Amino acid sequence: MLKIGKLKLKSNLILAPMAGVSDLPFRLLNRRFGCELAFIEMINVRSLSYKMRKTKKMLSASPKDRPLGIQIIGCEEEFISRALDALDSYEYDVLDFNAACPVKKVARRGEGAALLKNPKKLNKLLKIIVKNSVKPVTVKIRTGWGKDSINAKDAALFSQDAGISALFIHGRNREQGYSGEVNYGVIKDVKKALDIPVIGSGDVFSPELAKKMLDETGCDGLLVARGALGNPWIFKEIKGFLKNEKIIKRPAQNEIADVILEHLDACIDFYGPIHGVKKFHKFFGWYTKGVQNVRALREKSFRVKTKDEMFEIIRAFRKLTNG
Ligand SMILES: Cc1cc2nc3c(=O)[nH]c(=O)nc-3n(C[C@H](O)[C@H](O)[C@H](O)COP(=O)(O)O)c2cc1C
Repeated sequence: MLKIGKLKLKSNLILAPMAGVSDLPFRLLNRRFGCELAFIEMINVRSLSYKMRKTKKMLSASPKDRPLGIQIIGCEEEFISRALDALDSYEYDVLDFNAACPVKKVARRGEGAALLKNPKKLNKLLKIIVKNSVKPVTVKIRTGWGKDSINAKDAALFSQDAGISALFIHGRNREQGYSGEVNYGVIKDVKKALDIPVIGSGDVFSPELAKKMLDETGCDGLLVARGALGNPWIFKEIKGFLKNEKIIKRPAQNEIADVILEHLDACIDFYGPIHGVKKFHKFFGWYTKGVQNVRALREKSFRVKTKDEMFEIIRAFRKLTNG
């Protein structure tokens, strides 16, 4: 099975870090359906150094939420070191460094995917992290900065040289953002070039696409991101499909409604009733995407403010029959 440093994982299916999404309720729910390692969303090293309240909330975890990955993003050595000190008081298993975020504001500061333009700097920062981290260190990269500057292999080799334990690669370049084709060829080249485990990311939306990523790249594991939005069942489905089992794709409406309720309850427990319901709006949208006759309900759901109103929406959803 997949090993990241000394950490042995029972499965190679990993829940990706997703900003605004990967909180404790979301991670625990996905674990119940077979995700092994799960990541908290990226955390800026400055916010970590300043021990901001919002950052502490992001880092909230529980004993059931293991193995757990924390991802940091930044480019200043001083703040990276301070962030590592701040992380001493947290329980987690893997420390990932983000060299993949495409957001303009982030790249302008020289962070995230901007580091792909400077693999030597990436190497230097990773060396500092590896030296000061008590946990195995990984990096997440993209295929390159743009279509004319695909340099993932180079960036990956510079990263490996810094002593990291595994590498995550999203098979798109920074210009592509989150659309356009995933470049399986580049992931394959990176996998061939490295001695450490390589985990592929990009369009793992179904068991078939999961298999395609594994088959076409030879990668050691999969990072599931948008495929898990409103669909924690994806982990079970991928596992079954890879074992050639017969799988049922979309669960029955009643089961979806049960999971929606469970997720809403967890959000309310974690954030409190007002914030919890607000946070849940987008999840309800994801759970009900593609369901027939649900449009009016979805529109209404985005406006509800209280727990009881949301319960009412879920009750109505449960009653809906397809067709
Ligand atoms: C809403 C959202 C937030 C994301 N936030 C992060 C993040 O915090 N750190 C990171 O490394 N990648 C982040 N990603 C990228 C995903 O981890 C993943 O690599 C990417 O979405 C490609 O996988 P997919 O095509 O299966 O969604 C984010 C993606 C989405 C959709």
